[in-house]
Amino acid sequence: MFRRWHDAGTYDAKTKSGGPNGSIRLEEEYSHRANAGLKIAIDLLEPVKEKHPNVSYADLYQLAGVVAVEVTGGPTIQFKPGRKDSSVCPEEGRLPDANQGVSHLREVFYRMGLTDKDIVALSGGHTLGRGHQERSGHEGPWTKDPLKFDNSYYVELLEGETEGLLKLHTDLALLEDPVFRGYVEFYAEDEDAFFKDYAESHKKLSELGFTTRGRTSCIILQGAVGIALAALFLIPVHIYDLNAKMKDFFC
Ligand code: HEM
Repeated sequence: MFRRWHDAGTYDAKTKSGGPNGSIRLEEEYSHRANAGLKIAIDLLEPVKEKHPNVSYADLYQLAGVVAVEVTGGPTIQFKPGRKDSSVCPEEGRLPDANQGVSHLREVFYRMGLTDKDIVALSGGHTLGRGHQERSGHEGPWTKDPLKFDNSYYVELLEGETEGLLKLHTDLALLEDPVFRGYVEFYAEDEDAFFKDYAESHKKLSELGFTTRGRTSCIILQGAVGIALAALFLIPVHIYDLNAKMKDFFC
C-alpha cells in the first residue's frame, strides 16, 4: 500500500508516458522485478474497486498511499481525484534500482520532472514498511517503528549502521552528495519541515502527467480503503476519521 508510488514513478516527462494511471494493476507491469510483492496490495484493494466501480484504479491507488501516510501519523496530503486508467504499461526499468547511487537517482527522478529536494523528501517514505528478502533481496525495516510516519529515517541514516535496520545503496547515496546531505540533515533536525516538504513532493508525484479538473461527482469510499489498509498492516484505523477524509476527498 505504501509503495503505491510505483504506479506514479514510471512517469517520463518527455514522452508523457507512464505515471499514476493504474497500469500497475496489469500483470505485465506488476510482474516487473521492482514491483515484487505489490500484487498483495493490488488484490487487497480489489474489493474496494468492486464496491466503487466508478473510481479509477489510478485514483484508488494514489488515495491508498495518501491514507497510509496519514493513518500512520504523517502529514495530510491534498488529494484530487480524476485520474484516468490506462492499459498501456511502461517498459521495465523505469523505477529506481536500490543497488545504484547518486547519478542513477537523479536520472530516474529528473526524468519524472522531480528535483533534488523531492528525491530526499520522498526517500523519507522509507520511514514506513520494510524490505523483504524474498521480494527485493533486501531485508528489514529502515526505522525502529516502521508503522509510524516520522522523520526517523533521516535520524537513522545519519546514525550509520544499526543492527537490524536496513540501508539500501540508494539510501546511503543521500549522504554522499552534498546537496542531498543538506536536506537529510535538515529533515533529521526539523520534522515539521520534513512533513511539509514530504506532503508537497508526494502530491507532485501522485499528480505526474495529470491535470486536475476540479471536483468530480460525489463518490463515497468511506472506510473501505481504511479497512483494506488495516487488513494489510493491522493498523488500528479509526473508521470515523477516515469517513470524514473520504468525504473531503471525493465530495
Ligand atoms: C529512491 C529510490 C527508491 C528505491 C531504490 C527504493 C527501493 C525499495 C526497496 C528495495 C524496497 C523493499 C521492497 C521489499 O522487499 O518488499 C522498498 C520498500 C519500500 N519503499 Fe522504497 N525505494 C525508493 C523510493 C521510495 C519512495 C519515493 C517511497 C515513498 C514515497 C518509498 C516507499 C517504500 C515503502 C513504504 C516500502 C516498504 C514496503 C513494504 O513494507 O512492503 N520508496 N523500496
